[in-house]
Amino acid sequence: MGDRPIKKGEILTIQLDNLAYGGETVGRINNFAIFVPGGIPGEKVKIEVSEVKKRYGRGKLLEIISPSAYRINPSCNVYNECGGCQMQHVDYEEQLQLKRQLVIDAIERIGGIKGVNVLPTLASEQRFYRNKAQFPLGVKKDGRGNAEIITGFYAPGTHEIISNEYCQIQHPLINKIVRKTLQVLNDEQISIYDEIHHTGLIRHLLVRVGVCTNQAMLVFVTNGYHFPEGKNIAKRVMEEIPELVSVLQNINSQKTNVILGRETKLILGEERIIDYIGELEFEISAQSFFQVNTLQSRILYDQVIKYAGLSGHEVVLDAYCGIGTISLYLARAAGVVHGIEVIEQAIEDAERNAVLNGLENLFFYSGLVEEVLPRLTNDGVTFDVVVVDPPRKGCHENVLKVFGETQPERIVYVSCNPTTLARDLAALQEHGYQVVEVQPVDLFPHTYHVECVVGMHRKDT
Ligand SMILES: C[S@@+](CC[C@H](N)C(=O)[O-])C[C@H]1O[C@@H](n2cnc3c(N)ncnc32)[C@H](O)[C@@H]1O
Repeated sequence: MGDRPIKKGEILTIQLDNLAYGGETVGRINNFAIFVPGGIPGEKVKIEVSEVKKRYGRGKLLEIISPSAYRINPSCNVYNECGGCQMQHVDYEEQLQLKRQLVIDAIERIGGIKGVNVLPTLASEQRFYRNKAQFPLGVKKDGRGNAEIITGFYAPGTHEIISNEYCQIQHPLINKIVRKTLQVLNDEQISIYDEIHHTGLIRHLLVRVGVCTNQAMLVFVTNGYHFPEGKNIAKRVMEEIPELVSVLQNINSQKTNVILGRETKLILGEERIIDYIGELEFEISAQSFFQVNTLQSRILYDQVIKYAGLSGHEVVLDAYCGIGTISLYLARAAGVVHGIEVIEQAIEDAERNAVLNGLENLFFYSGLVEEVLPRLTNDGVTFDVVVVDPPRKGCHENVLKVFGETQPERIVYVSCNPTTLARDLAALQEHGYQVVEVQPVDLFPHTYHVECVVGMHRKDT
């Protein structure tokens, strides 16, 4: 074990210093980091060492010796078993403060950038904020061998389903649809996917809600195409819940942890549901990305507009544009907006959404940003302002390189992962940009996730 100062099974008392990306707290013994789930920075705790790696360890919380003033009783019954939320035991104001600190730590430690102005995290007003949920299905047997289809979330680090039909961060309509669907699936004795043997039919339920319209979508993710009962099941759930206007089947026959397959077929009702962000109307399909906290997205996008500093004439890039939500926001204040997105269905939605909102100054391209962007710049398109909103892994290095070569005046970076954000900000600094301000926005209360909008200027402006 060399110079590791802790041993598996050892009982230790440690001081917890900070929150790590992932929701665990971190304490140190002789500078050796130990991750502890369920703690709060500032607490002194007793732990049992559960894992020892070369550069860090992990501990199970046994006792809180001096509790934080911000520790509260989580209101969810399955909080301690379920892996969906990580911060329900922390007072909400303190969650916001810890998330801001997480962003500062990442920018300083990973990005190596000191003294950046990180503003206080903007709070989310909404409880039950999630407009989309993907639930795994499983079968529970009682002592007499009776089988019941259950759903919920996976316990942390496992594929064990913790049964929960009343999740406190989901929109109430999602919980209602899931409960009714489970009842119908149990009535109809539909077979459930078994991931070990790769047998059985239904793998996941995906439910989406238009928060401003109260329209809902239900997607059955199936192992294979054959689902003749689909129409009857859809009818039964729709009859009971009139807000459910769209029922689809997504086919995923692969042995994979990826939830959705490539193909989606309509079972009953509409192909898409509608929702609003501010005054803009969006049609959303099953596979397209749409921010999960609808009302808070408006706050996020207003911040993007502020940092974009548009005067009505600029040529703007919206890279990783999804169904064009940010693009349409920008288009109302810019000369022209070019949006790039890899999912073809999302680009179809984006084009439809531009028409729906009467906006004509937009061009959308389906493909990888790292491939489409160099083609656009080679064709002579130059951008005054660039907005990027990449997935968790951040921007491809070639995308940042193109910005270095073409030098747009301002860059607005929207990020859902402070660690890759910090890495990319450091690269953009190398390419001639300076961070003006960082605004964390809480899109995901009670989880460790934090969204950030970063305003950057070219150093010579
Ligand atoms: C965080 S979402 C942002 C979507 C949109 N800006 C919004 O606010 O709704 C990231 C999007 O990037 C897309 N994406 C991921 N990797 C990509 C790539 N290399 N090139 C283009 N799009 C990509 C995803 O499909 C997803 O729609």
